[in-house]
Amino acid sequence: MKTMRWICLLGLLCAAGIAADDTAALPAGKGREAVGKVCVDCHALDVIRALRLSKDAWSQKVNEMVDRGAQGTPEEIAAVTEYLAANFGPEAKVHVNTAPVDELRTVLGFSPAEAKAVVDWRGSHAAFKGWEDVAAVPGVDRAKVEAKKEMMNFAVAGQE
Ligand code: HEC
Repeated sequence: MKTMRWICLLGLLCAAGIAADDTAALPAGKGREAVGKVCVDCHALDVIRALRLSKDAWSQKVNEMVDRGAQGTPEEIAAVTEYLAANFGPEAKVHVNTAPVDELRTVLGFSPAEAKAVVDWRGSHAAFKGWEDVAAVPGVDRAKVEAKKEMMNFAVAGQE
């Protein structure tokens, strides 16, 4: 992803491509497209996925981003807030088939090396179907995975 971004700095039309990729990997749900329009210009969606906030806190965060220059119609802004509250609220599970390193670390408590091992593994293996599949990734602490199994969702990219 990082490499891609550097390559993209040299190219045209690339930002849109990255945004589409990132957005497609988000959990499916009402408002996802709005996130893909309003929240992708300045940073990766990873910073969003790594958080778990209440609806009020998401609303505040989205307003902060609007102050920083995020653009959308009032309807789109409201849809973004609803989507984030519904999919990245305090109880929201981690979609382990798409979660970025930061989300695996902050929400599941994986070490940087474990989180990277999981992300690298996904690149060349079938989707995880249960916590045992995650525990089988070399370098990942099985006990840690089992302890967090209720926090994991095994939907594949973008689906519920
Ligand atoms: C105009 C540029 C811009 C857009 C568009 C944007 N952001 Fe940001 N965002 C920033 C900047 C600048 C930072 C600060 C990075 C830092 O703190 O190092 C940031 C950081 C963040 C962070 C992590 C730091 C924090 O404050 O918690 C989150 C979460 C975040 N943005 C959410 C969003 C969401 C949600 C949207 C869509 C509504 C969005 N951003 C759209 C500029 C933007």
